[in-house]
Amino acid sequence: MDNRPIGVFDSGLGGLTAVRRLHEAMPSENIIYFGDTGRVPYGTRSPETIIRYARQDVSFLRTFELKAIVIACGTVSSVALDTLAAESDIPVIGVVWPACAQALRETRNHRVGVIGTSSTIRSGAYERMLLTARPELRVFTRACPLFVPMVENGRVQRGDVVIETLVREYLSELKGEGIDTLILGCTHYPLLRGVIASYMGDSVRLVDSGAAAADAARAMLIPAGRGRGRTRYFVSDDPASFRQLAGLFLNEQITHPAELIEISAYGA
Ligand code: DGL
Repeated sequence: MDNRPIGVFDSGLGGLTAVRRLHEAMPSENIIYFGDTGRVPYGTRSPETIIRYARQDVSFLRTFELKAIVIACGTVSSVALDTLAAESDIPVIGVVWPACAQALRETRNHRVGVIGTSSTIRSGAYERMLLTARPELRVFTRACPLFVPMVENGRVQRGDVVIETLVREYLSELKGEGIDTLILGCTHYPLLRGVIASYMGDSVRLVDSGAAAADAARAMLIPAGRGRGRTRYFVSDDPASFRQLAGLFLNEQITHPAELIEISAYGA
C-alpha cells in the first residue's frame, strides 16, 4: 500500500478528464492536481516554452511527496515526456503511449486517426509511436486548434451549430479515409465525445487519452489503502472559473475551492 498522492497536471482543465477516471477506477487515491489556467493554451506554443512551463509544473507538484506524476496533457506528453521522465526519480506517465496502446488493441482495419493541438500534431509523437509498434498501420492526423477554446467556454453540446460546424470541418477528411479508431489526443476533447461520435458514426471507436493514462497509472502503481482519497486542486489563475467549469469535466462538483499559486516561482 502506498498512500502518497499522485500528481496530475495539465495546461488547464483538460487533465480533469484523467482525474475523473482516477476517481472512478482508484477512489482511494490522494491526488494533487495543477491546472496552469494562467498560461493555457500550451498547444500553440514552441517546444522550448512547453518544456519550460512543464518543468515548472513538475517542480510545483514535487513540493508534495508524490508516488508518480501523470501528465494529463496531450501537448506536454507529446513534446516533453522524455525530458521530464529523464529528470525524475518517480514514474512519469504521459497520455501518448497509453492512448496508442488502446488504439492498437481496438482497431480492426488498421486505419487510425489522431486529433490534437497544433503542437501535438506537429511533434508527430502519436504517429511515431503507432508506426513503431505496428508499421503496417495507416495513420491519419489532424490538428484541431479551435476545439480547446470551445471546450473552455462550455460549447460542447450536440446541436450547437458552431461546434458541429468545426467538427465537420476538422474531421471530414479523417472520416473519408475510413478510419475505425480515432484517438482524442488532447485531454480537452472527451468533452466533445458526443458531437464527435455522432459525426463519425458507430463504426468509429473513440480513444480518450486522459482516461487511457489513468488506466496505465492504475496498472503500474502500488495502490493506496482503503477509504475515499482526497483531491486538492491548484491553479495559476482564476480559481472561481476553474471551480465553475470543473464540474463539466469531472461530472461532479468540486467541494473545496481551488488554491491559487504563482507558478513562475517554481523551478527553471
Ligand atoms: N489539454 C491540452 C492537451 O491535452 C490542450 C490545451 C492546450 O492547448 O494547452 O493538449
